[in-house]
Amino acid sequence: MNKVSALYPGSFDPPTNGHLDLIERGAKIFEELVVGILRNSEKSPMFSLAERLEMLKVLTAHLKNVRIEAFHGLMVEYAKSIDATCVLRGIRAVSDYEYELQMALMNRKLEPTLETVFMMPADKYSYVSSRLVREVAQAGGPVKGLVPEFVEQKLRAKLEPAYKFHDEMQEEVARTTGVREKRKRK
Ligand code: PNS
Repeated sequence: MNKVSALYPGSFDPPTNGHLDLIERGAKIFEELVVGILRNSEKSPMFSLAERLEMLKVLTAHLKNVRIEAFHGLMVEYAKSIDATCVLRGIRAVSDYEYELQMALMNRKLEPTLETVFMMPADKYSYVSSRLVREVAQAGGPVKGLVPEFVEQKLRAKLEPAYKFHDEMQEEVARTTGVREKRKRK
């Protein structure tokens, strides 16, 4: 069988346990797996490119055939530049399928020699996405079990000023209205 070098592209803002699960599965079947973080100037990410690079490097340090890099522009061109012949993407649920199919076919149109391979993360992560993790964390909810502990710490550090402000506001409301919120942040 040919030895296949694959690219796993994404935003990883932040990396979740679902991403890590997929990287570990991919590392088992590909000779080399490059995790490519998109540097997207249109979106304003929660984590800078440098922070996402650091997180993914720490989280995959135990996987010797995994490399973490950043890219911009067309994914197919980047894949070509690193000699990847395959693109790895995760499908969690049927709802992912339409977007992923469209992207895979567009990428095939752009570069017919590049194959997209889909893998499923463990079912316990089937509802986990970076967007929902950001939403829960920003509202002060617990993200334990959804992201690696290292990412949890980074989220806490990033959102600490916002949490503090939120708590101060609640305290002020409680002082002026006498109504105190029961819920305690975990
Ligand atoms: O994790 P995401 O945000 O769903 O990843 C999307 C990503 C980065 C794979 C996709 O947006 C991408 O490949 N962007 C690079 C630009 C590109 O090649 N666009 C054409 C895709 S059909």
